[in-house]
Amino acid sequence: VEKAICVLEDDAAFDAGRGSFLNAEGRVQLDAAIMNGADLNTGAVAAVERVRNPITLARRVLESDWAYIVGEGALEFARQNGIEECNPWWFVTQEEMERWSRHRGEVLYYLRDGAFYRDVLGSPSDTVGAVAMDSGGNIVAGTSTGGAPNKPVGRVGDSSLVGCGIYADSTRGGGSATGPGELIIRVVLTKHMVDLLSEEVGAQQAVEAALRHLKERVGGCGGLIAIDRWGRIGRAHTTNLMSSAYITEGLSEPVVEV
Ligand code: GLY
Repeated sequence: VEKAICVLEDDAAFDAGRGSFLNAEGRVQLDAAIMNGADLNTGAVAAVERVRNPITLARRVLESDWAYIVGEGALEFARQNGIEECNPWWFVTQEEMERWSRHRGEVLYYLRDGAFYRDVLGSPSDTVGAVAMDSGGNIVAGTSTGGAPNKPVGRVGDSSLVGCGIYADSTRGGGSATGPGELIIRVVLTKHMVDLLSEEVGAQQAVEAALRHLKERVGGCGGLIAIDRWGRIGRAHTTNLMSSAYITEGLSEPVVEV
């Protein structure tokens, strides 16, 4: 999960790591979390700068005595643990610099039922996540994001909040979410989805039901990927775009949806 997310963080197509949206001050601040469904252990970082792969830092937090470290403290923790640091300009792409210049000072917000994604983003650029089940049935989930464009300095969305943008419990299943953090937080979306899972309700039904709940309860759109403890896969989105891929035993190539 960590390695898959590192690839996506390094890919400028997504709002995570390189290619992230710039905040109101034109800086990149990153949030990430990883959760081990075997023991419910979590590691999360938020509003961190200069760390090339925030998911690797989140994993290091998971392996420590702590669960969640933010801002300057997260950068200090990265330095103490030898996590790769980079020049903050490494994250900034021409496309995002132009978006920031075009919309400088505007509040670019998500709370208009998907219109944000069509009008402002115009491309499948958002949070990244991965969920995996190993041969022993253990489920791990991870999520990483640059958050919202023009967000205030220090703003943290759903992605790194356990239960909101990520959850994994190997006795039920795990998932990762994308979409407007301010709305996803209100319904604790990913934990809500995991709580729906049962032998009768598989991962696909649960992601669809959780996204309906997000819409009906707070008018939000979003996306979810999931695996349940029976190995069933779910992926759905009510945003205009979300790319995803999965591979299972017996498949020679991943199944991709763009
Ligand atoms: N889902 C990403 C964010 O709102 O920060």
